[in-house]
Amino acid sequence: MTRRYYVTTPIYYINDVPHLGSAYTTIAADVIARYRKLRGFEVHFLTGTDEHGLKIQREAERRGIAPEVLADQMSAAFRQAWPALGCEPDDFIRTHEPRHVAGAQALWRKIRAAGDIYLGDYQGLYCVGCEAYYTDKELLPGGVCPLHKTAAEPVKEQSYFFRLSRYGERLLELYEKNPEFVSPPSRLNEVRSFVRQGLQDLSVSRTTFRWGIPVPDDDAHVMYVWFDALSNYLTALSAPVDHTRFWPPNVHLVGKDILRFHAVYWPAFLMAAGYPDDALPRQILAHGFLTYGGQKMSKSLRNTVSPLALAEGIAPWLGVDVIRYCLLRSISFGHDGDFSIEDVLGRYAADLGNTLGNLLHRLLPFASDAAARAAAEPAGPLEEALRSQVEVASRAAAEAFDGCAPTRALEAIWVALTAANSYVDRAAPWAARKQSPARLGTIVLTLAAALEAASVLVAPVMPRVAAALRQQLGLAPLVPRIGADQWPLDLPARDPGHAFAPGEPIFPRLDKERIAELRTRFAPPAEPAAPGGGPPGVDPAEPPPTRPSPARAAPAVKTPSRPRAAEAAAVAPAEAAPEPAVPTAAAPKAVLDFDSFAKIDLRVGVVRTAERIPKKDRVLSLTVDVGEAEPRRIVAGIAAHYAPEALVGRRVVVVANLAPRPFGGGLGSHGMLLASDTPAGVRLITPDDASPPGAPVR
Ligand code: ME8
Ligand code: MG
Repeated sequence: MTRRYYVTTPIYYINDVPHLGSAYTTIAADVIARYRKLRGFEVHFLTGTDEHGLKIQREAERRGIAPEVLADQMSAAFRQAWPALGCEPDDFIRTHEPRHVAGAQALWRKIRAAGDIYLGDYQGLYCVGCEAYYTDKELLPGGVCPLHKTAAEPVKEQSYFFRLSRYGERLLELYEKNPEFVSPPSRLNEVRSFVRQGLQDLSVSRTTFRWGIPVPDDDAHVMYVWFDALSNYLTALSAPVDHTRFWPPNVHLVGKDILRFHAVYWPAFLMAAGYPDDALPRQILAHGFLTYGGQKMSKSLRNTVSPLALAEGIAPWLGVDVIRYCLLRSISFGHDGDFSIEDVLGRYAADLGNTLGNLLHRLLPFASDAAARAAAEPAGPLEEALRSQVEVASRAAAEAFDGCAPTRALEAIWVALTAANSYVDRAAPWAARKQSPARLGTIVLTLAAALEAASVLVAPVMPRVAAALRQQLGLAPLVPRIGADQWPLDLPARDPGHAFAPGEPIFPRLDKERIAELRTRFAPPAEPAAPGGGPPGVDPAEPPPTRPSPARAAPAVKTPSRPRAAEAAAVAPAEAAPEPAVPTAAAPKAVLDFDSFAKIDLRVGVVRTAERIPKKDRVLSLTVDVGEAEPRRIVAGIAAHYAPEALVGRRVVVVANLAPRPFGGGLGSHGMLLASDTPAGVRLITPDDASPPGAPVR
């Protein structure tokens, strides 16, 4: 029988681009999915975007665009971000898609037909940031939301209600019979005591705005966004391809901020729709918050880190795996944990370079001793000990991954890798090479087998590293096959004739300049940057989008924001307006007649020098050759996105006739660079190599 596994992430709100915090959940889910695939499971890994609701409607208004446009742009940003971080979801659901709309309406109809949705009147205090009603008791004095520190808004409307009050007993029984339904166990207690306090019926429709799924047979109402959103886990399975065989979900991975919605409301909706207990999701796994400088990493606190910029700063391509490893290794899964560049640098050098990479590079010098390998002696006690250490680690890692505990899995794997390094010390292949070729053969084959096992063990977390390891070991890439368990529960035997393919070190030492640059770029924020941010551990949905920001003197709703690429690359705005590191989806602008466009002098430039400016950490000072007698000085707000040395010699597009702008220290800036906004941060527009400096751009 095929073993199936269905794992999900939350569907993310589209008022934010992916950052290291949202990436954390998706990476963890990807690791679990990859692990199950290697074990031969047929896996379905679902992620997506949550696109309806008042919060999104207001965000679209703030940007001056239609909510559909915001949804298209931002869901594309999420969809693209995940593969770039090594994540391979099997499906991506958008709540504005027809398949979801139809599915959510079908679920509604079922519950309505069962008598658990009814029409009533609602009067209450609503926090838009949370997209949730509050009772007086739950609010701070003055009716202020404890999470967002903004006043909840009084709302009175006709509303459909879900008869949540009917499901308290059955939920408590479910938790009783299946204590693993909520994990970790401490979180189960939290959920249980919430349910024990008594559940009130839940308002599940709105009449005061339109950006939502229409309630079946009553056009005046749209569905409450959480009813809409939670149903994604179900609706995604039915179309366009029938994936209903994956139901029920094995694990819904969520942050602790949204546990209640998943562990209380969601199973209650399903119960009301007629699902028996054995057709309910098996587990809600709530992890902790990633903090940065001690604060929850979030857009509202302006302390997000772009995962791709960080990964690229460490190493192109493989850097993504370094980030995946550090996030899961350093933050004990389920607990809060602080992101720090020091931790990343430390683990890169120690765990990855000195332990994993080194093991390979201690083996490879002996890889060409083919004759020795052919003459290998039978394994001795040292070899037996290593073999059993690797097998123990493989089993322990499997057990940990089975329980969705990636941190424990990595710990177990690293115990074995450390043991393998000690094995090299003790077996001393360099001495054996001189004294006993047959013994050298044994050592090489033993190590090669241990490394082969390691290449599988690390693959869920570091798929690219696994591929690089396997390539140098002369092994075929790992390809999951349904029904085939490839986990190395028993250490593989290496065929003596098998050739190696030694290559460059996988984790080259980072030079001093690179380390210094990473330290500067990713230094923790010195202080909580925004007012009103909740302390870590308390949640936070995002704050109301209309909260005035210090950078915008007059934060008028409906004012389209300035296109972010220009903000980042232009001179003065970058200095004057420290914007959050979040691209604003480009708002459509007024139509430009051709003559106005023709007035812009766009030219190819070549960066000659690039340097940081003391005390101005957002900008770089460049000199750019635009085909004139002297290169021009241009100050660009790209310090968070490019290392100065990476820019020298690079071709760029310069707006050459922009009025010069004064810049600190009596220096001016004489032009602007064109750049795009991407989920990875600001990227410069680069012309073809054949374009000489000064060439006009049309
Ligand atoms: O809540 N640390 O979407 P959302 C750890 N649309 N995880 C973090 C994090 C951090 N600093 N920041 C974000 C919603 N996350 C709803 C979900 S599901 C039917 C609907 C992760 O965009 C974490 O998984 O606010 C958290 O639960 C989720 O992003 C919240 O994403
Ligand atoms: Mg949130």
